[in-house]
Amino acid sequence: MPEQTARKLEVELGERSYPIYIGPGLRHQAKLYRRHIPGRQIMVVTNETVAPLYLQDVMEALDGFQVESVILPDGEIFKTLEVWQGIFDALLQQRFNRQCTLLALGGGVVGDMAGFAAACYQRGVSFLQLPTTLLAQVDSSVGGKTGVNHPLGKNMIGAFHQPRCVIADTETLNTLDQRQLAAGIGEVIKYGLIDDPEFFDWLEQNLDGLLKRDLAALGYAVERSCRDKARVVAADERESGRRALLNLGHTFGHAIETGMGYGEWLHGEAVATGICMAADLSRRLGWLSAGEQERVTALMRRVGLPVAPPAELGRERFLELMAVDKKVLEGKIRLVIPKGLGRSVVSDAFDPRALHDMLDEYQR
Ligand code: NAD
Ligand code: GLY
Repeated sequence: MPEQTARKLEVELGERSYPIYIGPGLRHQAKLYRRHIPGRQIMVVTNETVAPLYLQDVMEALDGFQVESVILPDGEIFKTLEVWQGIFDALLQQRFNRQCTLLALGGGVVGDMAGFAAACYQRGVSFLQLPTTLLAQVDSSVGGKTGVNHPLGKNMIGAFHQPRCVIADTETLNTLDQRQLAAGIGEVIKYGLIDDPEFFDWLEQNLDGLLKRDLAALGYAVERSCRDKARVVAADERESGRRALLNLGHTFGHAIETGMGYGEWLHGEAVATGICMAADLSRRLGWLSAGEQERVTALMRRVGLPVAPPAELGRERFLELMAVDKKVLEGKIRLVIPKGLGRSVVSDAFDPRALHDMLDEYQR
């Protein structure tokens, strides 16, 4: 297989810095992995959907190592402590030592669970991310947030643990179904709205290419998203400030995911709706014009993403679910709100009546 050219970015975190490689066919490139694997033992963590598609390719690229695999059930409902424990069973049964490496092969669910297992196994071993969904390539594989869900709240149990590298093979996106691709594009749009207005304009102009999976358009969108995310993570790895911006749409989105039952709404769908709700609130506060709000909603609609929450949740249930959010400080809800397209802020300085009116609007 001829080697493909990879785009390379760096997440600048001092001694924990690592590269992100982006390009088609990278899963075959043995030397990319080898550079970042310290020992001889590798546990590939994947799931029952991704394993038949890509596990063999990865095993071949890792020829010469002791490679084992653990195959998790597929789905957000399995992102639990119980399923996660199965990774340790596999590691211990194979007598994996502290020099071992975990390799996450799959979407964000696999990546978050494998990363959290790597953070905990023998108090921390190395791990690599090989994300295979658009959402995982542009977001979850980068930045070191790992964890599992609790029945009372999304991603409530976890750790910060940075990977040794991220290998984003854009060719793997060809096997993704259209609903999953759309969910990933929702997270891509998020970066434009946080602090990259030029990228938002680019997305308006190039959305059709992304939806048709044009490799050049996908490669560009993954690279730009990762660049935007890496900049924020480098400035605030542990989310004591600026990193909270990456949660645009997430307070509403997590409430939808938890409230509807994990897996009912895709994470990217819930975030896309959450972004539309944040834009609606922003317009009510006079921070976004009606025309700007419409540009956000129209772009999400073009992708085929939902733009309004399920009516059955209602204001009181929303507020109850939002109170579990990790950004809540001294009992006060803080939200990420766009203040103009491409300029978002984290704020609790908003009139709660505007939030209540917005939530009531969707109940009708
Ligand atoms: P996912 O991991 O459930 O993957 C979506 C579906 O696509 C699954 O059925 C999966 O098996 C399948 N799949 C994966 N790759 C495929 C491929 N190449 N071809 C065909 N099918 C494929 O969902 P996701 O959207 O990738 O990730 C969502 C998860 O990521 C959520 O749990 C969310 O909380 C988490 N997340 C974490 C972070 C972070 O910073 N750690 C950021 C964003 C999201
Ligand atoms: N997805 C939010 C973060 O990585 O901070």
